[in-house]
Amino acid sequence: MKHRLALIGFGNVGQGLLSILVEKKEALRREYGFELEIVAVCDMLKGSLRDANGLDGQKLLDLAGGTLDAYPGGTKGGDALTVIRESKATVVVEASYTDLTTGEPATSHVKAAFESGAHVVTTNKGPLALHYAELVDLARARKLQFRFEGTVMSGTPMLSFGMKNLAGCEITEIRGIFNGTTNFILTEMEKGQAYAEALQKAQELGYAEADPTGDVEGFDTMGKVLILSNVFMGGVMRKDEIARTGITALTPEDIRKAAAEGKRWKLIGSVRREGGKVVGSVGPQALPLSNPLTSVMGATNAAQFATDLLGEVTVVGAGAGRRETGFAILADLLDIHRTIG
Ligand code: HSE
Repeated sequence: MKHRLALIGFGNVGQGLLSILVEKKEALRREYGFELEIVAVCDMLKGSLRDANGLDGQKLLDLAGGTLDAYPGGTKGGDALTVIRESKATVVVEASYTDLTTGEPATSHVKAAFESGAHVVTTNKGPLALHYAELVDLARARKLQFRFEGTVMSGTPMLSFGMKNLAGCEITEIRGIFNGTTNFILTEMEKGQAYAEALQKAQELGYAEADPTGDVEGFDTMGKVLILSNVFMGGVMRKDEIARTGITALTPEDIRKAAAEGKRWKLIGSVRREGGKVVGSVGPQALPLSNPLTSVMGATNAAQFATDLLGEVTVVGAGAGRRETGFAILADLLDIHRTIG
């Protein structure tokens, strides 16, 4: 089956996806019968480009450092909504920047895609944190597929694990490390690196958000806690109900002191059922080294599910990164391919 893809957002994640698609094109066709044509790319900073006959992935990647204007051929110009409506894509990948205040413009992109009859894969946390139920209903009403694995723990399949493999269990709590940037910074600081240098390195490696305040002040983890509450606990929690603290107040001295006491700081996100309510929190905790979460280092993330039938189950894996999040989209595309095929 041949899919026609419109890519909205050509930053770290979009480029990660395209490089994987270029690299694995033959293997994906051979092993899964998965074929894909890129019919549109649109980015707020780089411009937009459409071609119903397909765009060349490698040529697009060669232009990713500048603008798409230099691409030979194609129709240039048009905002994301126009591109989504006119591209005749069968699947829209929404990988624009996350806004956890409004969920826009990504939520409008997702709605426009469904209204145009396209399946959607997104890594954007805004729509999932703020408009989950509405978007799931819209997809269902139009019999379209909606996938969002990369919104939590990048390509590590924690969401599909919880939704598919833990189906039938009651999940009473999910806690863990859900932000790669801050876990990377805390790891580097423990090695003696200064906070600012560690943050810069996290940005260079493509872990951080466009505005890294979202990472270090705990907003990114808060968004993921909201997504987990929406997906696994009925979506009754509001953003302003989540107690949130980031890592910016932690000093090298705090980190040394914890190490001397056999502890390690981790930014912990949690969502749990408590006395008939769903409660969420985000904040740094100095955990004893006997806690398995303390061995999760760098940009790696971990999620501990507390369940009624299986006890505690932990998923550990990549939490951020271009290729890692690009892979999340590929996994979702392949899942759609299997489902509709
Ligand atoms: N900025 C995020 C992180 C990206 O560092 O975890 C993945 O959601």
